Amino acid sequence: MPFQIRVAETAGFCFGVRKALDKLLEIRNTTRGPVRTLGPLIHNEQVLEALKTRSVDELLPDEDVAGKHVILRAHGVTPETRDMLRAREAVICDATCPKVAQVQAIVKKYSQKGTPVIIIGDKGHAEVDGLLGYAGDRGLVITGPDEAEDLPGGDDVCVVAQTTQDRQVFNETVDIIKRKYTQCREFNTICDATYERQEETRLLAVRSDVMVVVGGRNSANTKRLFEIAAPHCRSIMIQSAADLEPSFFKGVRRVGVTAGASTPAWVIRDVVDRVHAIGWEAHGSVPALLYRAIRWSSVTHFSWAAGAALVYSALMQIVTGTPLWIMTLLIFALIWTWRLKGCRLNPWVDSGVTVAISVTAVLPLIADPVITAMPAMAPAVYFGSLLLIRLLFNDCLYVQADRIAGHKTLPVLLCDRSVRRILSILIAVSFLAALLLIRLRNAPGTYALAAAPMLTVCSYRYLLRRPTWLTLKANILLDISYWITAAGAFLGNRMG
Ligand code: F3S
Repeated sequence: MPFQIRVAETAGFCFGVRKALDKLLEIRNTTRGPVRTLGPLIHNEQVLEALKTRSVDELLPDEDVAGKHVILRAHGVTPETRDMLRAREAVICDATCPKVAQVQAIVKKYSQKGTPVIIIGDKGHAEVDGLLGYAGDRGLVITGPDEAEDLPGGDDVCVVAQTTQDRQVFNETVDIIKRKYTQCREFNTICDATYERQEETRLLAVRSDVMVVVGGRNSANTKRLFEIAAPHCRSIMIQSAADLEPSFFKGVRRVGVTAGASTPAWVIRDVVDRVHAIGWEAHGSVPALLYRAIRWSSVTHFSWAAGAALVYSALMQIVTGTPLWIMTLLIFALIWTWRLKGCRLNPWVDSGVTVAISVTAVLPLIADPVITAMPAMAPAVYFGSLLLIRLLFNDCLYVQADRIAGHKTLPVLLCDRSVRRILSILIAVSFLAALLLIRLRNAPGTYALAAAPMLTVCSYRYLLRRPTWLTLKANILLDISYWITAAGAFLGNRMG
């Protein structure tokens, strides 16, 4: 049996990182000229490399910023840095996470009152440095209980945490501070998203033989996830799928995967795919070859093109009485060359090509006197909507990468809800077209046409449940639904 892989629901971009990235991309898409970030926008090399290709880079210390857009990242900055940028006439875009901004406000309030502020966090971390800037000469950073023991003590103190701090460390540290100060105003400013991610990592680690923690080398929250997982099972922290060594998985069955708040979905997906591959490889060359073949056929869209062409062939057999193999080959070639290597076009080109393929597909029906007597477009509508569903599914898989790279696919241009609505409409349309064909032809093979839309609903539910780290499974499931439909229709045609 291959590995049992569980991926944390909370893995991937948190609300603050997503918001910061959205702001940056909005500016990138609406302005010309270079866009600068104050320090790396997020701790992830793949995302930063992709942004560089779109003239989004870190601000250099002596760079002229007058008139340039400068993004303040989710970690926040000190008030001095903000003033300095204003003085240099930069166009400031504040992408500070609202939760970090709340901590900054607490620190500012108490330091202005003259209360010393203790920040429990990592010295030198961008967020902590920003908070220290708000505390002025009243701020002090400690990393945990050991350093709390060395505090001199006093009357009044305000305690906050870095938003990615471990809750246990925070509680233990606060207990010690309380013993040393007569009045301790503690604020548990650990972000809920961080807490939930850490808790899920803890639970996942307990139930796994091995934990894979994915994230940037400099990401504090990823390091913390690793520290949380490590006491419970063999754990590894990696940046990408290329860092995975098969020897690490020797003798294991259950693999847990989690990721830091700045890890994009496509990196998590690649890691999950690589772990799957290692699992199959561990069971000999035949299962490994099988996995590679399935993966290849899905990534290159071979299984989609072949499945769609077979559905087309079965459809033609139902409608005209013959499978029209030459046309089937043409349809296969058209779909495969169009989508080979997952090329990303734009919604207009993609929809145009889909309509063109669907119209080409029904050309042989136009001269058929029986077909012209029925709503002739039913086969085209059925086939076209199935193609569009798969196209949209696939674009949903790559939405994050497409947004960063500047591709304008439908999921990039529309909000999640609109994409879901379009998908639901397409599923309903394909189902209604299948019902119409059943009514018109009433042959056993025709009934199988309803299978594809119905099986799509299952894949669709899967897609909705796990939107952030979708694996290839969603695409593979959809391709299988084509093959099942075609097989059912051919079998029904034969029986009929
Ligand atoms: Fe903000 Fe929490 Fe992410 S503080 S940046 S939402 S980890």
